[in-house]
Amino acid sequence: MGEPCPNAKSYTDLIEAKEPKFFLKTRTFLLDHTSIFTYILRYPSSINKTMNLKTETKTTSKLINGCCFEVMNTMPDNAFDVVFTSPPYNRKRNDKYNNHTDIVDDYYQFLHDSVSDCLRVCKGNVFYNIQKNSYNRQDVHRLMGAFAPELIEVIIWHKSNPMPNPHVINAYEYILVLSSENKSLKANKTYTKNHFTTPVYSANPYKHIHRAVMHPEVCSHVLLNFAKEGDSVLDPFMGMGTTGAVCSSMGMNFTGIEKSLEYYQEASKRINEETQLTF
Ligand SMILES: C[S@@+](CC[C@H](N)C(=O)[O-])C[C@H]1O[C@@H](n2cnc3c(N)ncnc32)[C@H](O)[C@@H]1O
Repeated sequence: MGEPCPNAKSYTDLIEAKEPKFFLKTRTFLLDHTSIFTYILRYPSSINKTMNLKTETKTTSKLINGCCFEVMNTMPDNAFDVVFTSPPYNRKRNDKYNNHTDIVDDYYQFLHDSVSDCLRVCKGNVFYNIQKNSYNRQDVHRLMGAFAPELIEVIIWHKSNPMPNPHVINAYEYILVLSSENKSLKANKTYTKNHFTTPVYSANPYKHIHRAVMHPEVCSHVLLNFAKEGDSVLDPFMGMGTTGAVCSSMGMNFTGIEKSLEYYQEASKRINEETQLTF
């Protein structure tokens, strides 16, 4: 399944371990904004860098560079209120990332394992955004069947400006809503529909390195309607940190996991900058 993952023993090890070998594989940014904004970079060797920046938020952002399967394995059950994520799509064209190969041999197993892990570490709802395409549709439909008892809703993200295509145009993506508790999805306000419309992110400022960055409106729509201020939110496929930036602006605590070191570093820069801009 992709590149080998770092060999973390426990969640505490991820944050506290001192072995240089361990830090070669897993780096953690702790962005703590409890009155001052602390940015701690733990690196291979004994270097610990700390930078304090003033903000007025009361949220924390924890960014982890590692494989989400390994990292989630070290996390306790029910550690988060909400999961919001968007896994790689398994596009055979492999044209979305500079630092990640978007081809997984057993994509169904990859999806299945990640949904199982998300359900275990989340005590609330898992929002799992996935685009069905001609390469992955059997796996996506099989996934929906395998998690039929946990699949409590399917929200449709309708794209107002989908990419043109000589075949039928792919103008929507699923947001699968899964929960271990068999309850229907509750929204924060009455008259909340299970579909919404936003444009695709054609203005993505990171497209030179990552062409699968989500439009922030997709994440903010979901969190605004189905999460609340102060919630802890996990994104195990963090990419360029859209979920983290949105959580910061909405007063939610964020944990993000990203396998690529470059995307992880860019995400930390982005969350840092956007938090500075927001407040
Ligand atoms: C669809 S992108 C997520 C984009 C993100 N929502 C954003 O707006 O930037 C999927 C991301 O998952 C990362 N990824 C793939 N396999 C992973 C793994 N096993 N653990 C952690 N991250 C992984 C890829 O590097 C990629 O950045």
